[in-house]
Formats: sequence, structure tokens, C-alpha cells
Amino acid sequence: MSLPILRLGTVKDVSRFQQHLSALGLNIPCDAEIIAGSESPLRQPLSRGEIKLGNRIAAQPMEGWDATPDGNVTESMLRRWGRLGSSGAKLIWGGEAAAVCHAARANPNQLVVAPHTLKGLEQLRAALLDGHRLTTGSADGVLIGLQLTHSGRYCRPNEHNKPEPRILYHHPILDRRLGLAPDSPLLSDGEIEAIIEDFHRAAHAARETGFDFVDIKHCHGYLGHEFLSAYTREGKYGGSLENRTRFLRKIVDGIRGDVPGLQIGVRISVFDTVPFFPDPARSSKGKLGPGIPEKHDDLIPYRWGFGVNAQNPIEPDLTEAMQFLSILQQMKIYLVNVTAGSPYYNPHIQRPALYPPSDGYQPPEDPLIGVARQMDATRKLKQQFPNLIFVGTAYTYLQDYLPHVAQAALREGWGDLIGLGRMALSYPELLWDSSTGNPVQHKRVCRTFSDCTTAPRKGLPSGCYPLDSYYKNSPQAAELNAAKVKA
Ligand SMILES: Cc1cc2nc3c(=O)[nH]c(=O)nc-3n(C[C@H](O)[C@H](O)[C@H](O)COP(=O)(O)O)c2cc1C
Ligand code: SF4
Repeated sequence: MSLPILRLGTVKDVSRFQQHLSALGLNIPCDAEIIAGSESPLRQPLSRGEIKLGNRIAAQPMEGWDATPDGNVTESMLRRWGRLGSSGAKLIWGGEAAAVCHAARANPNQLVVAPHTLKGLEQLRAALLDGHRLTTGSADGVLIGLQLTHSGRYCRPNEHNKPEPRILYHHPILDRRLGLAPDSPLLSDGEIEAIIEDFHRAAHAARETGFDFVDIKHCHGYLGHEFLSAYTREGKYGGSLENRTRFLRKIVDGIRGDVPGLQIGVRISVFDTVPFFPDPARSSKGKLGPGIPEKHDDLIPYRWGFGVNAQNPIEPDLTEAMQFLSILQQMKIYLVNVTAGSPYYNPHIQRPALYPPSDGYQPPEDPLIGVARQMDATRKLKQQFPNLIFVGTAYTYLQDYLPHVAQAALREGWGDLIGLGRMALSYPELLWDSSTGNPVQHKRVCRTFSDCTTAPRKGLPSGCYPLDSYYKNSPQAAELNAAKVKA
């Protein structure tokens, strides 16, 4: 029988946390003592070729749904980037998803890379460096990327309530969820090539505005990720892995030709699972049921997910992710950010949480299992590709024990950097504080309330409404609470 989910906020010490991991049978390394100062695994520099990083802390990209309607920078975005910098992280993985053109946006308030936003992009970078200097005293050894995205199936560029999906193939479950007719148009090869040029233009702009690298986003159900699962697409962008990576390879070739000196990284969902939904038998008015997978017994072998076992698509299979990393290595791309699944159709895989977002479901498993799944994938990939630089994801759910696990994971070679996602919204300096020996501020630790995901689902900007006073005291907080009551 499975154990009830233990609220980590009630676990008073690390030995109790370690016992809980053992009781769950989870292989998550966890140190009993935190090392502060230059001996801390989090404070070790890393140097590979031209990539030089001053420590092992990374800030994950975190979109805020708060750009102007034409995709330009706002005060709240400058504040968020300043806080990302104040995390002390020497690797800033993209700041937030920036659309390569207006039509590529996932929401009508997403940042766009375009001539009219260049000044704003420069300001974001400057705000980040200011925040970083305030925490660490110096901007040496910082590497700053911009995450370039096309939202594909999840495009919603103009109105919050108007999805405008651009798809590569028909998906038997996701098409139904999006209300797509069987004959709805697919992106043509010509349209794909125009998008590739948008990526080239955006990479050029990133370089001009001072970014060190761009991330060619391949995760979370967006276009780059959808290419990887385009098994059923005909033509040169679907079918074989060679065809499914043509989009990436063409983007990289163009950047290498036009923007020499710009580093490239890839954030990739290395495994997936079939879409989940709240179990209707266990849902009641106002309460979502636990997540269960959509019916898929008639879809075996499963050909609509990257990194899944085709005979049992609930199970990860890293075979193709390894082949993908070989391709990256051949292209001399060393920066890899490992993530999984999608926030739209399997959030428990992508961002393990105790409380579901409004369009999610109650956790179908202890969220620590979700953390362990992503950590284990990163460990296996790192073992196979020791020369690549791996950022690990999904650490936030560890809460007060994040520093203990981060330290142990780095020491044991489970990856090269620890990425902070949601924790960077509530308490960006957590790992800096712990590895400096500053007292950890437990009241600021993210408890995975998911308000930062629910707010955008209701058309509001994202932010840590429960713990960050900037959002807590905002008029949008009242709107969010009212929307939650109605839901
Ligand atoms: C509000 C919010 C916005 C996010 N925006 C992005 C994004 O723009 N790009 C991206 O690759 N991931 C994005 N993510 C995913 C995070 O980077 C990260 O993978 C996820 O939250 C799991 O890591 P964590 O456990 O540290 O939160 C977002 C997550 C949240 C909660
Ligand atoms: S709203 Fe704040 S506490 Fe809740 S998940 Fe997001 S960052 Fe964490």
C-alpha cells in the first residue's frame, strides 16, 4: 500500500526527511550536513572550452505572462530578472521563454524578440546583472542565455481565450483536447522553414543585446518538442530521428553561420507520458480528483510521445534522448537542460507539486517520485555523456531539503548544475544562502501551491502570490482568489 503524502513543510529535520525517502524506496541522494564556503559543491567553478561558470547554481527560465501586448518589457519583468540575478546563480538559462515572432507566442503577454523589443532585452539583462552583483558582489563567471521559443500546439498570441494551435501532426488525444478537427491543417515544410529563419533572426538579436547563448527550446509540448515526437508526420521533418531533428540542425547551422561566437544550449523534455486528467470517479464539485492517464490501450504501439516506451507509454525510455544528445555532441553543443513532460497535459511529471494548478489534478503519486524520476534521468544521461554540461530540474518540491539534495547530487555526479524554477520566484537566494552559511529563511520556501501556474490559466500574470509581497498585495491577488472560489 502506498504511503500518504507527507507535507514536507512539517518535516522538522533532515534525518526525518532521509527516513521518508527510504520509506518511499526512493534513490535521492541527501547530505545530512550543509557545507558552506569554498568547499561547497555548489560553489565549484566549471570550465569547458569557452564556457566558464563561477558556480553550480542555475536559474531556470520562468515566464511571467506580463509583457506588453506587443511583447515588450514591463516593470514586473525587470523586477523578476533582477531577482533571478539575485539568486547568485552563475548560469541564467534563458530568463524566460521569448517568442521568435508575434505568432509564436504562448500567451498574449509573452516576451517577443523583435526590433521594437531590443532595448527592453538589454534592460532585462542589465537588471539581472544588477541583482547578481547585489547578492554576490561581482558579475564574474556569469553566463546569460535567452530562451527562444515557438509555441506550436500551444500558440495563443492574440487573446487569452483564443488558442491558435500550429501543429506538426495529428495527436489522437491532444487534438481532441484542443478541439482540433481531423482535417485541421498541419504546418507545411515551407512554414517550418520560415520559422527556422525567425530563430536565426532572434539569435542575432540576442547576440546584439549582449546575451552569451540562446536556448533552442525543445521541451514542454511546444514546437521544438513536438518535432521530436513527429513519428507520424510525412516528409523531411517527420518519421526518422534524423528528420525529427532537422529543425534543430537547420537552426544551429544558420546561427553558426550568421552569429559566430554565440553559444547554443538546448532545454529538452527527455521523457514524457500520455496526457493525464482528473479521475472523474474521484472528483467532486470544487475538488479535482487524482490524475489518471487518458485511455491509450487502443494506441499501442504509442507513436505520439518522445522518450516513452511505445509498448507502455506511461514508462520513460531514454534511448532516443541519448541519441539526441549524441547529435548535440556532434554539433559541439555542450549546454543541456534536462526537463520532462509538459505543464499542459502531465504537470505532475513536469513540475511535481502538492497542490494542483486549476487545470491540473490532485497528485497521482507522491511528488517526490516525480522529483526522483527527473533526477534519475539526468544522472543516467550524465553518465553516458560526461563531457556535456547538464542542468538538473524539478528540485523545488524538495523545499527545505533542496540544499541537502543539491549538494549531494553534485558531489555524486548526478549533473553539473542545480536549476531553480519555482523556488526562484519565492526565494531566489536559497542555494546562495545555504552555501554561504547565511541562515535559511524557511518562511520564503516555495510550498508548491501552484498559484504561479493557476494565475496565467486565469489570464493573470504569474508570480508567487502566497509568498512574494509584490504579488500578495497586488490587485491581481484578489482577482486570483475570486477566480479560484468560482472554479
Ligand atoms: C510560472 C512558471 C513559468 C515557467 N516558465 C517556463 C519557461 O518560460 N520556459 C521553460 O523552459 N520552463 C518554464 N517553466 C518550467 C520551469 O523552468 C521548471 O522546469 C519547473 O518549474 C520545474 O522546476 P522546479 O521544480 O524548480 O520548479 C515555468 C514554470 C512555472 C511554474
Ligand atoms: S506560487 Fe509561490 S509557493 Fe506557489 S508554487 Fe509558485 S513559487 Fe511556489
